[in-house]
Amino acid sequence: MKHILIPTMVLLAYPALAQDTSPQALIDLYSTEAGAAPSPQNGQALFLVTHSGGKPDTPSCTTCHTADPTKGGQARTGKPIDPLAPGVNAERFTDTKFVEKWFGRNCNSVLGRACSAQEKADIISWLKSL
Ligand code: HEC
Repeated sequence: MKHILIPTMVLLAYPALAQDTSPQALIDLYSTEAGAAPSPQNGQALFLVTHSGGKPDTPSCTTCHTADPTKGGQARTGKPIDPLAPGVNAERFTDTKFVEKWFGRNCNSVLGRACSAQEKADIISWLKSL
């Protein structure tokens, strides 16, 4: 029993990312869905700007991720967040479910709605360029 329990506990303690995708594969997926090429400029603007449709305490992606996604940020609880830019954090945009979960949660907090496929492609293409 012991030899089965220990690996299970290690897996639970360190939930590995699925590593089922890559930043480029996600950009391709979302831009195909959108039917348009990604725009890093639009992604940058969306990320840096202050929005008014979401929750008052999270007006921007920069609220938690800072204006420089090559650096770490901080959640509202004060918990550190690793850099979002895949160029400095190889774990970013490698797990489809994780990416979808956080786009869903964060776009809703900041914009008060889901991000479109176009917006997701734009944001990832900007982050990938950093
Ligand atoms: C309230 C704080 C907060 C705000 C505001 C926020 N995020 Fe996040 N974001 C997080 C946290 C916490 C995580 C998950 C922990 C982690 O990945 O380090 C995360 C993770 C992500 C991920 C997952 C990336 C990956 O593959 O690991 C994406 C994408 C993301 N955020 C995009 C955005 C975008 C786009 C915005 C603005 C629309 C935004 N976030 C605003 C806190 C925030």
